[in-house]
Amino acid sequence: MGSLMNNSQKHADISPEVLQSLLSTKEIGRPTIIYNEVSSTNTLGFEEAQRQASHGTVILADCQTAGKGRQGRFWHSPAGKNLYFSIVLTQPAYQAHASWLPLVTGIALAETLELISGLSISLKWPNDIIIRDKKLAGILCEARQNGDGAWAAVVGVGINIHNNQGDFPEELQGTATSLRLESHRQYDRLPLLAAFLKNVETYYERLSSANVDAIRAEYMKRCITLRRSIEIQLHSGNRVEGVAVDIGNDGELRIIPSESHGNQTIMAIRSGDVIHARKPSQLIKKATISD
Ligand code: BTN
Repeated sequence: MGSLMNNSQKHADISPEVLQSLLSTKEIGRPTIIYNEVSSTNTLGFEEAQRQASHGTVILADCQTAGKGRQGRFWHSPAGKNLYFSIVLTQPAYQAHASWLPLVTGIALAETLELISGLSISLKWPNDIIIRDKKLAGILCEARQNGDGAWAAVVGVGINIHNNQGDFPEELQGTATSLRLESHRQYDRLPLLAAFLKNVETYYERLSSANVDAIRAEYMKRCITLRRSIEIQLHSGNRVEGVAVDIGNDGELRIIPSESHGNQTIMAIRSGDVIHARKPSQLIKKATISD
C-alpha cells in the first residue's frame, strides 16, 4: 500500500507520490498517512491502531499543535521545517522486546542522520539524538493494550532539520540544535525519512528475531551516557546521582549511585531523564563493574 494525503497539502516536498517513489521498505511506512497539521502523530497512531491499521503504518505531519515529548513535555513542531512522524507496530513479536524499541529506534536514527549529514551523532540514554552536546532529535515510544486486548506500540520521532536558533522556544535555546545549524546546508525531508524507515525496519527485524546481544553491543558503542557521572530525574520526581556503568538485558541503564559509598551496589533505571556531568574530569575512564 502507498502513501495517502489527508487535508490540503501546503508543502510540496512532502507529497505522497514522492515518498512512494523513495520507499524501499517491506512493511514500515506502508501506508504512510500524510497530514498538513495534527495534534500529535502519536495520538493519531493509537487511533489508527484501534482501527486495525496494518503493522508498520506511518503517520507523518508537517506540523503538530500538541506534539508530545518524553516525561510529559511539549515537542515544539513548527510547519515547513522538520520531520514529525509515528510508526504503528502491532505484531505480537515486538511486545516481547518492547523495552528495546526506544533504544533500537535511536540507533537506527543516529546511524541514518550520520550517513546523510556526515556529522558525528551519539545517543544519550535512552534515545536522545545528540550532536556536540545538543539535542537534534527525540523519540517517544508508547505502548498500550487496546480495548479488544490487542497490543500496539507507537514510536514517535521528531527531527530538527531546518530550525534556526530563534525557532526554538527560549528554554531550549542553549540545548537544542538542528541539522541545518550544525552543517549549514538544507535537506530534503522525504529522502531522509525514507532512508530512516528502511534502516529502522532492518533493526526491527533483527530485534524481532531476538538478536538482542548484538543490538545491545551496538547501542553501547554509541551511548555517551556510559562511564559518565550523571544525575537522573526519576518518574517519581526523585533524583539519583551516580556513574552509568552498563546497559542491562532489557535496555535499562545500570548505575552505581553516589551514596553507595564504594560498596558498588548497582541500581537499574528503566525510565528517567539523564543529565550528564559537564566537566571532563567527571567522565570515568573505565567501567568499574562487571557482573
Ligand atoms: C523527546 O522528548 O525527546 C521525544 C520527542 C518525540 C517527538 C515526536 S514528534 C512526532 C511524534 N508525535 C509526538 O507527539 N511526539 C513524537
